[in-house]
Amino acid sequence: MKTRAIGGLQVSAIGLGTMGFSHGYGPSVSDPEAIGLIRKAFDLGCTFFDTAEGYGAGANEQLVGRALAPVRDQVVIATKFFIGSTPTRAELGRRIRARLEASLGRLGTDHVELYYQHRVPDSIPVEDVATVMGELIEEGKILGWGQSQATEEQVRRAHAVTPLTAVQSEYSIMERMWERAVIPACEELGIGFVPFSPLASGFLSGTVSADDTYTGDDVRRVISRFDKDNIRANQPLLGLLTGFAREKDATPAQLSLAWMLHKKDFIVPIPGSRKLNRIQENLGAANVTLTDDEFTRIENELAKIEIHGNRTDEDITKLSHDE
Ligand SMILES: NC(=O)c1ccc[n+]([C@@H]2O[C@H](COP(=O)([O-])OP(=O)(O)OC[C@H]3O[C@@H](n4cnc5c(N)ncnc54)[C@H](OP(=O)(O)O)[C@@H]3O)[C@@H](O)[C@H]2O)c1
Repeated sequence: MKTRAIGGLQVSAIGLGTMGFSHGYGPSVSDPEAIGLIRKAFDLGCTFFDTAEGYGAGANEQLVGRALAPVRDQVVIATKFFIGSTPTRAELGRRIRARLEASLGRLGTDHVELYYQHRVPDSIPVEDVATVMGELIEEGKILGWGQSQATEEQVRRAHAVTPLTAVQSEYSIMERMWERAVIPACEELGIGFVPFSPLASGFLSGTVSADDTYTGDDVRRVISRFDKDNIRANQPLLGLLTGFAREKDATPAQLSLAWMLHKKDFIVPIPGSRKLNRIQENLGAANVTLTDDEFTRIENELAKIEIHGNRTDEDITKLSHDE
């Protein structure tokens, strides 16, 4: 497996998002099966694993901790915290520390390599969060820190206080808003960019049908990209990806990941799957190399295609009101 540098961390060029084992995509596999799949991803060369305190109310961190315990010193674990209601400055440090200690306990480790603020509300000064992160780095509790779904301004202000390791945000062929300012800022400042939902929640694999139905906490119930009309309207995109993928002897999912790997060398996607063949397929995208000419052709063709539907946090909050 090829490796990449994000901030000061060395990670496999493609990581594994583990959220789906506990949260967000409906019924999952059993814990022993999930642990086996996470270990298999490591065997396949993956050294970058993404979790969060919020996935399954801590259950996902426990799972990841158990799965990676035997290889703990060979992997980079990233987890995330929410701050909750607006704290005073003194409360902020105490609150983040308490959350980190709880995450470390669930992960069964004394530090994490990467600790993200899961969302960056304007009500809490990024400088205050960055200061706490600097202290945690000094203490060796975390090796680096990041922000998720942050704006360019938030990235720059936070980075000026305690340099960021990575920004993790939704990025794929179907969601490219961060190309305008955040990805260029990451490039300028030497920050890694970690796309979540890099396969647009699986749509870019070409395996989604307008007849599919979703249950429980499955985000695909509420994100507009999975509206039946949008699935139909986005078929030209899949046609294009399938054509290019065939040329490269790859799958549409692999082509979608290879596209972002080609774009910048500090981009490290973290696709998620609960099936061994798909984990293998996704990690295998690191070996699908595009030439500059192929990349330009893909970009030119993509520019002609309109994308229908999206995935927004506002949509996802509907899940809890929509049982
Ligand atoms: N920071 C944040 O706010 C945030 C938000 C969302 C996610 N994340 C992180 O990012 C990770 C990835 O996000 P995501 O899970 O939404 O990414 P994704 O890989 O774009 O989508 C995952 C979905 O696609 C399916 N899938 C994956 N690979 C496939 C393939 N090769 N062929 C067909 N279907 C495939 C999976 O189904 P199966 O499982 O059934 O294979 C699952 O339903 C998460 O695990 C989490 O760690 C972070």
